Amino acid sequence: MSNIGFIGAGNVTNIILSFNNLKFLKNIVLYDKNAEKVEDLINKFNKKYKIRICNSLQEILKVSDVIVEAASIEAVDEIFQILNLDKKFKTKKFIILSVGGVLKNFKLYKKLISLGYKIYIPSGAIAGCDALSAVKFSDIKHIELTTIKPTNTLITSDYILKNQKLYRKLFKSKKCVVYEGDVYGAIKFFPQNINVAATLAVVSEVPQKIKVKIIADSKIKRNIHEIKISSSVGEIFVKVENVPSPNNPKTSYLAALSALATIKEISVFRNF
Ligand SMILES: NC(=O)c1ccc[n+]([C@@H]2O[C@H](COP(=O)([O-])OP(=O)(O)OC[C@H]3O[C@@H](n4cnc5c(N)ncnc54)[C@H](O)[C@@H]3O)[C@@H](O)[C@H]2O)c1
Repeated sequence: MSNIGFIGAGNVTNIILSFNNLKFLKNIVLYDKNAEKVEDLINKFNKKYKIRICNSLQEILKVSDVIVEAASIEAVDEIFQILNLDKKFKTKKFIILSVGGVLKNFKLYKKLISLGYKIYIPSGAIAGCDALSAVKFSDIKHIELTTIKPTNTLITSDYILKNQKLYRKLFKSKKCVVYEGDVYGAIKFFPQNINVAATLAVVSEVPQKIKVKIIADSKIKRNIHEIKISSSVGEIFVKVENVPSPNNPKTSYLAALSALATIKEISVFRNF
């Protein structure tokens, strides 16, 4: 039975651990830099799971078989640095949710993959990653992502808080474009909101061909992603309308379920 380690005791980890009767989720290991978050999670789940608490990233990597990163871009920076320095973690399997961190460290990520590290990127809040991996073997002309989110999930981002003109515009209009540009800017300015853009970049391996538009809409309740992929083998159009998770509306519920599906796929005990 695999030891499943969770880095981050936030919304995604809480959603995953709330499921009942999943036999592959039994031996849980946890690390979060925020002790209060750890305590909250323990209080909620200590009757259901045997949870081992770790005090460092090194420790959780050492004692887990599958490691689920559900923390932040900075956590991905730290994990990749550890893997680059210490080859003993090569036998472990890593599921990364803060995909912006993979894009930020793209060269290192590719190096780790070429060295044989098993790093999995779940499809997260979107669909169509299988087709995107396939058209990679053809000529991808361009990829367009339009993400439309409820205004309240975007308004707290530093980028908008620091841009008074945009902030006022958001309050006045019901629907407003808050970002239009390349994938790197999208990740930089909206690091917690736009993992989808990073996933498209990492899966396609052509980040320079991705255009991102982010729209705030005060009338909607769902996170909507529209993806257009234009390639020499045809056009792909994907639209996903996601229900936000109740405790963190920035995160689509589907993203947590996609991490759960990946854990099941790669952990040793696969029966429900
Ligand atoms: N791939 C996707 O489609 C997708 C979808 C949703 C969320 N995400 C990403 O997954 C991550 C988790 O999402 P969430 O909604 O659970 O966030 P959250 O804010 O609810 O929880 C994150 C937790 O991680 C902890 N943390 C942050 N940095 C850390 C570090 N360096 N070391 C240890 N602990 C750290 C925080 O203290 C917090 O408790 C976020 O980065 C989010 O952007 C990705």
